[in-house]
Amino acid sequence: MRIVIVDDNIVNLELVTHLARKVDDCEPIPFQNPLAALLWCTENDVDVVIVDFMMPEIDGIAFIRGFRELPDKADTPILMLTSDHDRETRYEALRCGANDILQRPVDAIEFWARLKNMTALRRSQQLLADRAAHLALEVAKATKEIAQREDEMITRLSRAAEFRDPETGAHILRMARYSHLIAVQMGLPKGQCDLILKAAPMHDIGKVAIPDSILLKPGKLTAEEFEIMKGHAEAGYRILRGSASQMLRIAAGIARSHHEKHDGSGYPLGLSSGMIPLPARIVAIADVFDALTSARAYKDGWPIEQALHFLAASSGTHFDPICVSAFMARVDEVRAIHAAFPGAEESEARSHDLQYVPA
Ligand code: C2E
Ligand code: SIN
Ligand code: SIN
Ligand code: FE
Ligand code: FE
Repeated sequence: MRIVIVDDNIVNLELVTHLARKVDDCEPIPFQNPLAALLWCTENDVDVVIVDFMMPEIDGIAFIRGFRELPDKADTPILMLTSDHDRETRYEALRCGANDILQRPVDAIEFWARLKNMTALRRSQQLLADRAAHLALEVAKATKEIAQREDEMITRLSRAAEFRDPETGAHILRMARYSHLIAVQMGLPKGQCDLILKAAPMHDIGKVAIPDSILLKPGKLTAEEFEIMKGHAEAGYRILRGSASQMLRIAAGIARSHHEKHDGSGYPLGLSSGMIPLPARIVAIADVFDALTSARAYKDGWPIEQALHFLAASSGTHFDPICVSAFMARVDEVRAIHAAFPGAEESEARSHDLQYVPA
């Protein structure tokens, strides 16, 4: 404990310094000149201040005011010594930040008791500050862990869906990246773009509710079967909705609205243009582009050029034209993503998953 002692009277200064030295862990640092003391305090850590009231350059109250304005000195315990018998002086000292006042002549027993109170106060302050810093660290760590768990749960949820869905994991990886590209190109804030990247893979999670006879049908669906298939949008919404997680709320909106169309002819609600949540308008393009360029149980994959023509031709009817333009502006990166996540690798990964038997 560094005890700064300020007293213009050298006899008093030596007396108080002597008394302070007798207290365990206390290192007295005496100053006869209060301005020199203030200067020293600006550059050094101080644990307790003991200051005389009546001094020629600046009095104890002016000293305390100056001291309290220094950085990190707002709570440092201060004891003022005074032989002034004016009640107002004491009140003023307390108002401007003295923690305690001791009447001169200094009584050794009383002085030690006060000084020990001051150092105890200081120790609690330090402990509290340490604990607060420790807690802030723990909270940051826990928050990061929760975010990682959230990401992991999504991966696992998507993996569960993959067991039933003929769409492979590569579809999910590609369409999430296409969605992200569009969001970035449209100038959405980075946080929003990241949420879309994470939420997009869950757009078809509702397909877990569709019977295999329809989901895995190798040919064209009948009108009746397609009506049932359409239910995957609402089912996905019901799986994901109502979460406190912003990302899952966005995912719920995407699941429900990724088959809505710009002209209002989509499903499940027949929403049009601005009524369709923006992340869903973005994902619709990424999803169809990837569905077209991939082989499905019911069709072969299209060449990229043909899929691009389809998007351009459907801009303003099926798709939001602004989102289509954003996609087209990034077509080079689209090709790179398409090449980076080929379907074959994925079917390997998928058959690996299917063979997995828990220990
Ligand atoms: P999906 O295979 O992921 O396809 C997503 C969307 O891409 C489709 O939504 C559709 O808008 C578009 N799309 C996919 N393939 C084609 C295509 O060959 N031509 C055109 N013009 N668009 C295509 P949609 O139509 O609402 O279908 C939703 C889901 O229903 C599909 O997801 C797929 O799982 C299933 N589905 C749709 N039609 C058939 C079908 O004829 N047979 C089977 N077995 N499943 C189908
Ligand atoms: C002194 O100024 O050193 C003695 C008077 C006082 O403590 O108030
Ligand atoms: C003081 O102001 O320090 C002394 C006055 C008093 O004891 O009433
Ligand atoms: Fe879908
Ligand atoms: Fe899809």
